[in-house]
Amino acid sequence: MDLQGLKLTWLGHSNFRILNTGGQVVLIDPWFTENPASPEKSIPKKKVDLVLITHGHFDHLGDAIEIAKKHGPKVIGIFELCAWLQKKGVENCSPMNLGGSQSAADVRVTMVPARHSSGIQEDGQMIYAGEPCGYVMEFENGVKIYHAGDTAVFSDMQLIHELYRPDIALLPIGDHYTMGPREAACAVSLLRPKTVIPMHFGTFPALTGTADEFKKHVEDLGVEVVVMKPGQTIE
Ligand code: NI
Ligand code: MN
Repeated sequence: MDLQGLKLTWLGHSNFRILNTGGQVVLIDPWFTENPASPEKSIPKKKVDLVLITHGHFDHLGDAIEIAKKHGPKVIGIFELCAWLQKKGVENCSPMNLGGSQSAADVRVTMVPARHSSGIQEDGQMIYAGEPCGYVMEFENGVKIYHAGDTAVFSDMQLIHELYRPDIALLPIGDHYTMGPREAACAVSLLRPKTVIPMHFGTFPALTGTADEFKKHVEDLGVEVVVMKPGQTIE
């Protein structure tokens, strides 16, 4: 895997931090304090420039509000999710919707579909949080990373390949709430990235999909599989 100067850290579950070559910090699905898999149990002390949120479930929305209030990053999410965040006092939201792109922190961000659900549980109610999504991030050095969010496999992943050609795909493999190893391998064959990094596994007992099983299923596809450890950084 060639990140060409980017630094990619997995913080467990779907939480990733990417440091770009200009020193800007991007967080995707920033779940720290309650995340059993995160080696960091408090929100980042250093600056955060951009936060991307894939959907409203607690394990993805995570500590976004606290991080936004402390560091004032641009926060990108789907329209309805951003409306809720704004009501909670998040000031620097930049709402968007599926199929669109915008630039922030020197990253070209494209919001792509995910097949999942999205709602926020609050005071015993389920609040509509718009559609779930994934993101294709094109960094200033040309490297393209696709974060799938929570999703089932779907055939339009082929369109994501045709339109954006992600170099690296971050895919859920844990099963139960998302695709499992076998379905994720099918996603790899549609997306055809150079490198795939599994995520959203091992966090809770319900997520039974394993990296070994995933590797077995992608073996013949000629795609590099990089299994990270929570807290690990790849440069
Ligand atoms: Ni979810
Ligand atoms: Mn999830």
